[in-house]
Amino acid sequence: MEAVVRTTSFQHYLDQLYARFLDVRDGDVANYIPELAHVDADAFGMALVTVDGHVYQAGDSRTPFSIQSISKAFTYGIALEDQGPARVAEKIDVEPSGEAFNSISLEPKTGRPRNPMINAGAIVATSLVNGEDAAARLERILAKFEHYAGRPLGINPAIYESERSTGHRNRAIAHLLRNYEILEGDPEEPLDAYFRQCAIEVTARDLALMGATLANDGVNPITAVRALPSPLVPNVLAVMATCGMYDYSGNWIFQVGMPAKSGVGGGVVAVLPGQFGLAVYSPRLDAKGNSVRGIAVCESVSRDFGMHML
Ligand code: DON
Repeated sequence: MEAVVRTTSFQHYLDQLYARFLDVRDGDVANYIPELAHVDADAFGMALVTVDGHVYQAGDSRTPFSIQSISKAFTYGIALEDQGPARVAEKIDVEPSGEAFNSISLEPKTGRPRNPMINAGAIVATSLVNGEDAAARLERILAKFEHYAGRPLGINPAIYESERSTGHRNRAIAHLLRNYEILEGDPEEPLDAYFRQCAIEVTARDLALMGATLANDGVNPITAVRALPSPLVPNVLAVMATCGMYDYSGNWIFQVGMPAKSGVGGGVVAVLPGQFGLAVYSPRLDAKGNSVRGIAVCESVSRDFGMHML
């Protein structure tokens, strides 16, 4: 496999894949966050970054879009680093829920979210990032994401504002978590940091490099900066492998066989440990909130190069 990825013929392969799926119009952009409905539905970009820092790209690989749920995997890593896995486990389980990303999937007695990839678990993970207040926590999240992406990142203010003013379901989830004392203090604070974290803008190239950093044991393969302590990398990849694609996670690991994470902004990132990060941007989503062409591209790469891990 390595020999294939290292040759320029992989660039040719990616160009062909781009051409093959360019005219696909299946799925719809997310519109429950009103501002997301304004993106170019037909944008299509992809990038693959290897653990030795080679970058392959096709299409709109440098078009910015909001990271949305993909942020959950990386913020979970920060929570693990700041609190330690044992304390995080008291607050967030790692069991696939088999339910939609916005499900209120809490353990009946304790109120502990089933996993950090559903919104409930992600809001708790954000609350576990070190920092005195929401602003400090957000600053830490942004700085860490920048270590993964290898460049300064920013927040799309219109998308943040759009979700903040319409995110009643997430607000309800946060208050429910406060009722169970899974969240401590004012639940609006981690909720606000979570909304901002979801509005961080990345490109497919950024996401592929973020994935390649996980593939490279937590070290950015281009900048050589460590983004995540080595012992925590398998923890993050494990929740991506089991819960990263919501109620499609079982089918995903069956078909594609790589840890991955999707977002309603249209991004998806897949990680082959020790090899590469692969990212796709295409905002048309299927009924489960996953990018239609994102799934198609990842399935093709996995099948054509025999990259199913299992
Ligand atoms: O909390 C939300 O609903 C969004 N900020 C993120 C959801 C998301 O990306 C789910 N992905 N498929």
